[in-house]
Parts: sequence; C-alpha cells; structure tokens
Amino acid sequence: MTIKLPDLPYAIEALEPHISGRTLEFHHGKHHQIYVTNLNNLIQETALAEASLEEIILQSSGKDDKVGIFNNAAQVWNHTFYWNSMRPGGGGAPTGALKAKIDGAFGSYDIFCDEFKKAATTQFGSGWAWLVEDSGELRIVKTANAETPITQDLKPLLTCDVWEHAYYLDYQNRRPDYVGVFLKNLLNWEFAQQNIEKKAA
Ligand code: FE2
Repeated sequence: MTIKLPDLPYAIEALEPHISGRTLEFHHGKHHQIYVTNLNNLIQETALAEASLEEIILQSSGKDDKVGIFNNAAQVWNHTFYWNSMRPGGGGAPTGALKAKIDGAFGSYDIFCDEFKKAATTQFGSGWAWLVEDSGELRIVKTANAETPITQDLKPLLTCDVWEHAYYLDYQNRRPDYVGVFLKNLLNWEFAQQNIEKKAA
C-alpha cells in the first residue's frame, strides 16, 4: 500500500481571506506532501509497508526505533484531519445537539473559545490543539510536534495546527490572531458532529 496525499476538501483559495491560497499551496503541497513522501520511503520493504495509516501510527507510537515513521505518519494523519476541521464560511457557535454538548462541557461557547485559544497559544513550539471526546465527555487537549490523540484512546473531533508553517505567511508571529480567526471564521462543526457519530474503531 502506498500512502497518498489526499486532495484538500475545498479549492486552494477557498479559505481566503483568513488563510491564503499561498499558505495552503505550501502547507498542503509541500509540508503535507513531504510527510507522505518520507513515510512511504521509511515503510517500504518493512512489516508496515501494507498497513493502513492508522495502524502505522499505533504500531510505531512510543517505539524508539520507529520515531521517524511515527512522526511522518502522525503528521500525515493530523494534517488531513486539520483540512477537514475547517470550511469556507465556518466558525462561530455550533447549533443543536453540539451546542448543548459544548455548553454542557464548558459552560458556554465563549468559555470553550477561551479554553481552546489558551491550549493553542500555550503549546510551546510546534504542535496541535484539539477538541476531543474522552469516554463521551468533550475535552480540549494539546499535543506537541506530531503527537496525536488517537494514540491516547481519545476521539478527535477538531484540530488546529499551531506549527508556524500553518500561519506564518498570513499572520507572521501572531498565533493568537490565527487561532481567533480559526474559531470565528473557519471551524467546521459539521465535521465535529460526523466524528462524534463515528463508531469507535
Ligand atoms: Fe502543518
């Protein structure tokens, strides 16, 4: 099996003016692509060559001799999840069952935003902020570098990439501005709802 770079779920300029086509050209076409290329090179002719991406992540996680495989595989997975965590015309408060779930877990949508922003902006260096389901409860977590909640028995619902390559061309060093726009203008609640409805693997 060869791991493939998935297409973006929207046109390259569809997230403008919030995230430029130029950022996506590099972020998807160069960064995401290189993780795919590296991973395929690392797994060829190994026991993981025929495994699915999720199996590769789970089987390489925490293994000293598979750090490169884990980092590239998890970055392939995290980026695909991130593209789907955004949509043109997204953001703002959720509605219906998801609104009730957010209110129940965090008290209000505004508190959810504050906590998500705090996680995203306090992740030191590169990493990810996530909304996850943990045994049915919503939680916000952050992960460093390529780490991903799927190795921690958590069900990811949404993620924001806080590696500098995600925002530097559009926001330079202003990570809080990027995260604010992600929440207000991009976040894809429909994707979160689909993930809630997914059965555990
Ligand atoms: Fe990224």
